[in-house]
Amino acid sequence: MGRRIETFSDLVQPFQEEFNAFMLGELLGSGESRVVYSCPCEPDKWVYKIERDQLHEFHNVREWTTWQQLEDYPDARAWLAPCDSISKGGKILRMARTEPLNGIDDLKGIKIPNFLGDCHWGNLGRFEGRIVCHDYAYSRIPERAVKRFRLVKNDRETG
Ligand SMILES: Nc1ncnc2c1ncn2[C@@H]1O[C@H](COP(=O)(O)OP(=O)(O)O)[C@@H](O)[C@H]1O
Ligand SMILES: [Mg+2]
Repeated sequence: MGRRIETFSDLVQPFQEEFNAFMLGELLGSGESRVVYSCPCEPDKWVYKIERDQLHEFHNVREWTTWQQLEDYPDARAWLAPCDSISKGGKILRMARTEPLNGIDDLKGIKIPNFLGDCHWGNLGRFEGRIVCHDYAYSRIPERAVKRFRLVKNDRETG
């Protein structure tokens, strides 16, 4: 009988599974670039957004940077789900938890800032009684856009 050869990943995988089960709460959703879990410590308050590795688009980092850059623009920031912290390499972002909208109908008659562009209802949620965007990695919000933004009809309200 030959000796069983264990690779590094054989050793890491059970540890990783135990770590995940301990550190991650409920799976709340997933998109093209992230999977999103509640934080077990304060599940109603925070989520962990875990970046998929394949795309190399760094959506967590982009969201975090946008949030930081808008520090002096509270009116614009009020439309974004707050970011709390990010891991050193950007793969894990801690963000305030939003409540999901029920569907497209929740957007009827709702205006959103023009710097968000067209927003699919799945990228919006409720936070502290207002609608916010929780997926703003693509928004590339320049400073000049938030200085004087307008509320506009969201063309995605019908699809
Ligand atoms: N802050 C949040 N609070 C609650 N659920 C969220 C939050 N952010 C994302 N989600 C859920 O996770 C899904 C995927 O997150 P999202 O930011 O859209 O990732 P992606 O960039 O991959 O599209 C969302 O559609 C939503 O259901
Ligand atoms: Mg999304």
